Amino acid sequence: MKIFIDTAKLDEIREACSWGIIDGVTTNPTLIKLAVEAEKRKRRNVDMEDYIKEILRVVGRRGTVNLEVISLSGDAMIKEAQLLYDKFNSVAENVVIKIPINTYSGDSSVSDFEGIKAVKILREKDMLVNATLVMSPEQALLAAKAGASYVSPFAGRIDNYVRTNLGIPFEATDYFDHSLIETIARERLQSYLNKSDNEEIASLYTFEDIKKLSDIGKNNGISSGKDLVGKIATIYRIHGFDTQIIAAAIRSTRQTREIAETGAHIITMGFQILREMFRHPKTTEGIKGFSRDVVSEYRTLFKE
Ligand code: E4P
Repeated sequence: MKIFIDTAKLDEIREACSWGIIDGVTTNPTLIKLAVEAEKRKRRNVDMEDYIKEILRVVGRRGTVNLEVISLSGDAMIKEAQLLYDKFNSVAENVVIKIPINTYSGDSSVSDFEGIKAVKILREKDMLVNATLVMSPEQALLAAKAGASYVSPFAGRIDNYVRTNLGIPFEATDYFDHSLIETIARERLQSYLNKSDNEEIASLYTFEDIKKLSDIGKNNGISSGKDLVGKIATIYRIHGFDTQIIAAAIRSTRQTREIAETGAHIITMGFQILREMFRHPKTTEGIKGFSRDVVSEYRTLFKE
């Protein structure tokens, strides 16, 4: 399994790459904005072209750097993808183009199909494409059909969507205990059914309360970000698609581990989560003990 860093901040990319475990970088317009703002706070001006070239050089042969287009129509996205590719791929031959699976945002001049058309055409031009903003297995299936090399399901945003639909308050970095929710829903459903012994199956099936308990979070049968990634992995495996899953929008270390268990090929996460993955209170306690217990006889071994 590969690990990408989900940031455009050069300092973070440099640091994480120095650990020797990073296989790529994902960026998007928001992450670029955050990087530019951080540079400005340090009173450093950003020449975007030089800045991205430096990211490409730092990552080098370690892996790919995902750069996203900004337009909403298929033709414009294809032009932008070509531009990004021509400008940057020669630096380290590691550019992947991110295309939103659907750019429709309520404006009737944009169809639902611009993203998929762009994915297909870019694939035919032999560019590596990452279909992004994927929120359902259905979208992931279509992206794979169009030949996307990568697909990015936004697990954390789906956890947020489900929690919001359930009326559960949360902070941005809170872990979503989806298995607790699933257990509660299962137990509720069971006790509901136990009390409805005499009801016909058809009438139980149409009960609103039962329907609610069987579609947790009103999300078309997808109960969490982990569930989303797992179902995409299953579909790809069954049908032999070679599209790689980049699990994205990761919010916690526990979510990272659970998503790794689903069979995602790649997980992209922010610098902070990567750092937290190294930590455990018992490791800290253990290292304090080892450092304290070094006797002078042992220490002499290490003297040059
Ligand atoms: C990765 O490719 C995505 O751009 C990223 O994970 C977006 O997630 P977020 O903005 O919800 O954190």
